[in-house]
Amino acid sequence: MNLKGRHFLKLLDFSTAEIEYLVTLAAELKEMKQQRIFSDQHRGKNIVLIFEKASTRTRCAFEVAANDLGMHTTYLDPSSSQFGTKESVADTARVLSGIYDGIEYRGYGQDLIEELAAYSSVPVWNGLTNEFHPTQMLADLLTIREQFGRIKGIRLTYMGDARYNMGNSLMVASAKMGIHFTACTNAEYFPDDELVKKCREIAVYSGGSITLTEDIVAGTAGADVLYTDVWVSMGEDASVWKKRIEDLRPYQVNSDVMANASSEAIFMHCLPSFHDTKTVIGRDVFEKFGLAEMEVTDDVFESAQSVVFRQAENRMHTIKAVMMATL
Ligand code: CP
Ligand code: NVA
Repeated sequence: MNLKGRHFLKLLDFSTAEIEYLVTLAAELKEMKQQRIFSDQHRGKNIVLIFEKASTRTRCAFEVAANDLGMHTTYLDPSSSQFGTKESVADTARVLSGIYDGIEYRGYGQDLIEELAAYSSVPVWNGLTNEFHPTQMLADLLTIREQFGRIKGIRLTYMGDARYNMGNSLMVASAKMGIHFTACTNAEYFPDDELVKKCREIAVYSGGSITLTEDIVAGTAGADVLYTDVWVSMGEDASVWKKRIEDLRPYQVNSDVMANASSEAIFMHCLPSFHDTKTVIGRDVFEKFGLAEMEVTDDVFESAQSVVFRQAENRMHTIKAVMMATL
């Protein structure tokens, strides 16, 4: 398997075998880190991390993974570069390619990162766009494999805003890996028709399937994984909260849906999560709408079935695998 020089923009660009290879490499790197064995085979290299939106996990995962591989990082926050405001995407790509060995980008439209990659002569890695979050997918696949000993055949139900980066990415990852994916939500929040069609075509070969349903009982029955994400994503206007809460409140992950899932079911979330009122936004929503828990209830989030913090740790091992493989 040779992924040297490849960009990592979305899982649609990778074969099932390539994705499996990255997950396996990540598992090996995790094992090595646990034994305190480090391979600084990329010593002397430099990478740049462009964040046009906030981040805890993705930024920290890239920085620590780079460090473990012997590399240096430059972090560019949303206001401290010329990107997009004073310098075009194409010009930025050519400038940074001359200085760095790899470029991480978190931003808005997928078209921006695709353009960045088209003009870059070094690998570009997607740290989240509105449409896709591919490094999160590798962490989730590793977590699922650790939990169940396999990925193929797993039944994963996603509840909430399934037309944004997490819903789209989980559907693509499922299609590629033979997972039975269900988007269980208000039909207004089903993923884009064209992407659904593409994923169904891919799933024919992997043995997976794609189901879209508004029926909570049917959609969660026997699921191995119940997955959700915030109802309002970064970059969306705060004015959408009211309608989002009305539309998605019935699709909250709570103890009823967990009880309807498989007895071995796990709860997953990419994080950050609104499961209490201990955040500024969480408190604000509580004051305005009287809702103390949003996409997941606190009891499910804190339950033994919740693997969210292992998922978060796995971001680092999988991002390290992506950099290892592509540099
Ligand atoms: N899951 C995730 O991408 O988290 P951050 O926004 O903290 O990077
Ligand atoms: N849908 C969320 C994912 C965060 C990791 C967002 O885009 O804000």
